Amino acid sequence: MTVVVTGGAGFIGSNFVFHMLDNHPDYRIVCVDKLTYAGNLSTLKDVMDNPNFRFVKADICDRDAVYALFREEKPDIIVNFAAESHVDRSIENPEVFLDTNIKGTAVLMDACREFGIKRYHQVSTDEVYGDLPLDRPDLFFTEETPLHTSSPYSSSKASADLLVQAYHRTYGLPVTISRCSNNYGPYHFPEKLIPLMIANALADKPLPVYGEGLNVRDWLYVEDHCRAIDLIIHNGRVGEVYNVGGHNEMRNIDIVKIICKALGKPESLITYVTDRKGHDMRYAIDPTKIHNELGWLPETKFADGIQKTINWYLENQDWWKEIISGEYQNYYEKMYGGRETVNVG
Ligand code: NAD
Ligand code: DAU
Repeated sequence: MTVVVTGGAGFIGSNFVFHMLDNHPDYRIVCVDKLTYAGNLSTLKDVMDNPNFRFVKADICDRDAVYALFREEKPDIIVNFAAESHVDRSIENPEVFLDTNIKGTAVLMDACREFGIKRYHQVSTDEVYGDLPLDRPDLFFTEETPLHTSSPYSSSKASADLLVQAYHRTYGLPVTISRCSNNYGPYHFPEKLIPLMIANALADKPLPVYGEGLNVRDWLYVEDHCRAIDLIIHNGRVGEVYNVGGHNEMRNIDIVKIICKALGKPESLITYVTDRKGHDMRYAIDPTKIHNELGWLPETKFADGIQKTINWYLENQDWWKEIISGEYQNYYEKMYGGRETVNVG
């Protein structure tokens, strides 16, 4: 079995590559990644010499490169993680999100039609459902919840989902889609909430909380997400969407306080700053379908997962310090330099 993993040099994709090599030692795993700012070859250094692994630097929008790879590798399964993934960047510059997240998905599926595959799996997000109000804790996203997006990022992901469903209906492409909640764990790029707060706290820098920090996310340890995708590509029903989430809703401010406590840093580092434009209030996944059909349940409790994650960032400072020492400095200055501090009562 040959599995092409796009975006495998990023956060979730790399964890998925490790998961597949560990759990399917007879599979060939081919990682295709453009190595954008978010892709790091150093993340994959431990598997580079594994005879069951191959890395190919390519853009999923590059039809010639993608078709050449399919011709050569004749993959059975495609798992598409490759994406522009950061909401704040999409607000600054939507265009590349449309290219990679929509056009790239179409190019991959065209290659699947041309060369034939057993399964195309699209890694989507709970953000395609929009958000839920804070005062209705009884509401959750199900697979039937209408798509209702807020940011250029989530709109591009929803567009891709619609295309995937169209390729299934129109061309009979054997597809599945997973829509997962917020992941956390090793190799999470330091522009995202949890690693950013860990890195800043360790440097005694301000911890920039958007708005009042009351927005709620449903956090899932990355390995639990990887297990869910593994189950879906093998046992999931073709044409179906599966929500993935662990009923672990947390307010941003509470996450930041947990990180301060775990690192022995004062909460006075917390700085409330101008809110994200169009900021979604609450995400909450109903994972009943994947539980009932595929027996999936999250295994890592948040208290354990966040401690493991913090330990990983403490033990792997070379990995993220290398990242934040380069172009990231310009990004940080652009995103946070002009942001006003807000007094929250
Ligand atoms: P990430 O930004 O850490 O990694 C994205 C990877 O894709 C990088 O390695 C990058 O180099 C690569 N890439 C970008 N454009 C490419 C292109 N044109 N061609 C080839 N490779 C390209 O992202 P992530 O957080 O690991 O997310 C992976 C996927 O999971 C995305 O599709 C995202 O929408 C989805 N997702 C993420 C989360 C989350 O909490 N992080 C939750 C649900 C779904
Ligand atoms: O829900 C799944 C989505 O989760 C994925 O589809 C996205 O790819 C992924 O980036 C993530 O999106 P979020 O916008 O929820 O993640 P982020 O880490 O950027 O922000 C989490 C929350 O923390 C959000 O409410 C914004 C807030 N935040 C974020 C940053 C970076 C802050 O308060 N301060 C910050 O500096």
